[in-house]
Amino acid sequence: MRRKIVAGNWKMNKTLSQGLQLVDEILSAQNTSSQVLKIIAPPFTHLSSIAEKIKSKPDFAIAAQDCHHQPSGAFTGEVSAEMIASTGAKYVIIGHSERRMYAGDTTDILIQKLNCVLAVNLNPIFCIGESSEERNANTHLEAIRAQIKDTLFHLSAADFQKIVIAYEPVWAIGTGITATSYQAQGVHDFIRTEINKKYGKTISDATSILYGGSCNAQNAKELFSCADIDGGLIGGASLKSTDFVSITNSF
Ligand code: PGA
Repeated sequence: MRRKIVAGNWKMNKTLSQGLQLVDEILSAQNTSSQVLKIIAPPFTHLSSIAEKIKSKPDFAIAAQDCHHQPSGAFTGEVSAEMIASTGAKYVIIGHSERRMYAGDTTDILIQKLNCVLAVNLNPIFCIGESSEERNANTHLEAIRAQIKDTLFHLSAADFQKIVIAYEPVWAIGTGITATSYQAQGVHDFIRTEINKKYGKTISDATSILYGGSCNAQNAKELFSCADIDGGLIGGASLKSTDFVSITNSF
């Protein structure tokens, strides 16, 4: 069966000491289910220290929030997938809408990033999602289909199985407006059907598809009870240990 996952995307928040404290609080919380994989995605600067803290915990893993699209070279200020792997991180978030919006991550760049991540045996958490215009025009499913097809469907079946998908409607990210469980389940079901058509049922059944966009301790239970929602990619609510832990216990 596919894995239940809750991933906390800290974005550009928390100093190193604040981040270590947050991880300590999460680790010392009671009642966290070992069935749920907890992924923490801190800034690059914190990866090694946090990876060290969780290394003996099989139900925890670390993710980077991005990586460069070339394996190495003269790219001042950038961080490669191989460098990320060397910290002990196991996942990399690729295609977050904030990167697409502010950092110029085009389809072509995203394909290169995916290839870099897979080449060093890391697992991509690949984000897709429609804009409010696409949702209002009722073209959101076509937009989602295009995003998956253009960026993921060049992958071999073996590589595709390393992907975690995060459905994050852009209008729900950081806005406090969450997709209803009906809306989210509809898109998750659609994504799984598209994967089934391309890679077959065994692979589509095994793909974890997370919901992201104003998911919090209050609405996680309803979202996670949907048949095709396997967990969440959490931004704002991952910055408080009690909220994050409560979300991890919402299955
Ligand atoms: P949010 O962010 O939970 O703050 O809406 C989610 C994300 O950007 O991954």
